[in-house]
Amino acid sequence: MNIDWSNLSFNYLDTDYNVRCYYRNGKWGELEVSSSPQINIHMAATALHYGQEAFEGLKAFRGKDGKIRIFRIEENARRMLSSSKGIMMAEVPEELFVEAVKKVVKLNEHFVPPYESGASLYIRPLLIGTGAKVGVHPADEYLFLVFVTPVGPYFKEGFQLTNIAVMREYDRAAPQGTGNIKVGGNYAASLKAGMLAKEKGYSAVLYLDSREKKYIDECGPANFFGIKNNTYITPESRSILPSITNKSLIQLAQDMGLKTERRPIPFEEISTFEEVGQCGTAAVISPVGKIDDLDNNKSYSFSKDGKPGPICTKLYHKLRAIQYGDEPDPYGWVTVL
Ligand code: PLP
Ligand code: COI
Repeated sequence: MNIDWSNLSFNYLDTDYNVRCYYRNGKWGELEVSSSPQINIHMAATALHYGQEAFEGLKAFRGKDGKIRIFRIEENARRMLSSSKGIMMAEVPEELFVEAVKKVVKLNEHFVPPYESGASLYIRPLLIGTGAKVGVHPADEYLFLVFVTPVGPYFKEGFQLTNIAVMREYDRAAPQGTGNIKVGGNYAASLKAGMLAKEKGYSAVLYLDSREKKYIDECGPANFFGIKNNTYITPESRSILPSITNKSLIQLAQDMGLKTERRPIPFEEISTFEEVGQCGTAAVISPVGKIDDLDNNKSYSFSKDGKPGPICTKLYHKLRAIQYGDEPDPYGWVTVL
C-alpha cells in the first residue's frame, strides 16, 4: 500500500474489504465480508431500470491519539431509512446499518488516513433493488452494501473560496419529488447542469426552487447557508436533502452565540449576505466567493480580500476539531472505534 495521504483527491481507491447483506424472502440475512469490488446482479434488477437505489455518505477520521472516529452514523442510518420509504425499498434497520459501517471501517483500518494529512475515510453505504421486475414495481430482493475509500477534499481548492452559478434552465428535483431523500436519480438529474457549471469554472450549481425559481434550494451535492447580522440562515424546502453537516453547523453556530434560521430564502436576498457557504460530508464547508446569476448577467461577491469569511472559518475549524477528536464532543456525534 503506497498512498500519498496528503495529496488525496475525492476519488475512488480500492480498499481491502466491503460488507454486504441481502434481503430475501422478506428478511435480512447475515452481514457478509467481501474482498471483491464487483457485484453480480440480475439484468432485470429494479435498481438498473427503475432507479431503486439509495446511498449514504459519511466519514471516519483518525485523531491525534490514533483512534478512529465516525461522525453521526445514526443520522445517516435514519436518512437511509427515509430514502427506503421514499422509493419503496426494504428498510435497513438502524442497528444493521451501524454494525455494517463499524465493521467495514474496522476491516479497512489501515486505510483511515493519518491525522496530519487532513484526509479522511469516506464511507459509502448503498442500497439497491436486486430483484427482477419488468413492470414498474418495487423489487422483492435487495442488497445493502458498504464500501470505504480514503479521500481528500471534494473541491480541489480545499478550504478556499469557490464560485457557484445559478442556471434556471435546470432542475435537480421536483417540488414534491425525491429531492429530500438520497436516491441516485437526483444525482443523474444534476449531472448535465453540474458539468456545464464545471466547464465554466464553477464548483457547483446553485439550484433555485423548481416551481417558481424564486427561492434558494441547494448547491449541487451540498446544502446552502448564508451569514448576515450574526445569523446563520439556511433554506427550508421540501426538495433539498436534509444535510447532517448543516444540522451540526446550526448547533455549532448557536453554541457560538449566532442566531439561526431555517426558512425559505428568496434569491433576491442574496446580495444581503456577508458570507455564503456550501456544506456537506464531502464538501465539509466550502466557502463561496462569488455567485454568478448566469441568466441575468449579475454577480454577487462575498469576500473583499479573497479569503473565507470569519464565521465560515470558525465553523469549519470547530466542526473539524470535533470530527478529529481535537475538542470535546458534547453532543455525542462521534463513535470512537
Ligand atoms: N445535499 C445533497 C444533494 C447531497 O448529496 C449532500 C451530501 O450528502 C448534502 C446535501 C450534504 O448532506 P450531508 O451533510 O448529510 O452529507
Ligand atoms: C456527500 O457529501 O456525502 C455526498 O454524498 C456528496 C457527493 C459525493 C454525492
